[in-house]
Amino acid sequence: DIVLLNQSYVSRQDAKVDIEDRGYQFGDGIYEVIRVYGGQVFLMDQHLERLKRSAAEIQLKLSLSLPELRQRLLDLVERTDLAEGMIYVQLTRGVAPRYHGFPTPEVEAQLVAYTKRMERPLKQQHEGVKAALVDDIRWLRCDIKTVNLLPNVLAKQKATENGAFEAIQHRNGTVTEGSSSNVFMVKQGVLYTHPATNLILNGITRQYIIDLCTKLNFTLHEQTFSVNDLLQADEVFITSTTSEIIPIVQVDEQTIGNGQRGQITQELQQAFDQQIS
Ligand code: PDD
Repeated sequence: DIVLLNQSYVSRQDAKVDIEDRGYQFGDGIYEVIRVYGGQVFLMDQHLERLKRSAAEIQLKLSLSLPELRQRLLDLVERTDLAEGMIYVQLTRGVAPRYHGFPTPEVEAQLVAYTKRMERPLKQQHEGVKAALVDDIRWLRCDIKTVNLLPNVLAKQKATENGAFEAIQHRNGTVTEGSSSNVFMVKQGVLYTHPATNLILNGITRQYIIDLCTKLNFTLHEQTFSVNDLLQADEVFITSTTSEIIPIVQVDEQTIGNGQRGQITQELQQAFDQQIS
């Protein structure tokens, strides 16, 4: 397996990370997960723009320009002969003696990227999955795509232990997002999703679905809704790069709608399928 380590393509076993890498010690870094369909990178520029924003928000200087990074990722896809799967790309604040403040003198950000073969989760997209409600215990900058993912890890684990596919997080009874996905609900033909504030990651898939809703003439409000609204919804679904659109047909012990994929969810899935094929 070939991976990208800073400027070089090396085999995976030769890609070594220093024990004082700040990503490793502090979670001081940012990342993106990008989908590849039929050898084509999907929504690459949107992901790179978000990476740039995350970097700026944590004052991390990118060690290369976006066009350079773009070219390296395209090379990586080619070198790893990836048809169906994803690219993981991560930048950390570099290697320096352990000290919480930024390193002085400045050090180079460390870049790692690799690809992974992956099938689309068609079964889950068709049948829907169960979700578990968990308290959103994260910090107040969930809009930054940081590798500091411990609360998300704990939320997902709680969901797993409850036999659920995903956690749906809420802050004081307001639904925010999943552990690694955004949450939408449909009530009386109208879609709702949490506004893109500091309390959620503004998913690239989320933005794509919002645009699809406009094209399909669906009414969508970027508006908060409560756990109670969620449980009473006609349809619920999650979106992410790897999940695309997956219906939630049960939340804890509550069945959503008739317990099957809803009509609007299905229409959005069909529209999405058309875009990627
Ligand atoms: N997760 N919210 C959170 C907290 C996420 O981690 C993700 C993505 C999303 C959806 O964003 P997008 O549509 O851009 O993938 C929302 C990625 C896939 C991951 O960590 O694996």
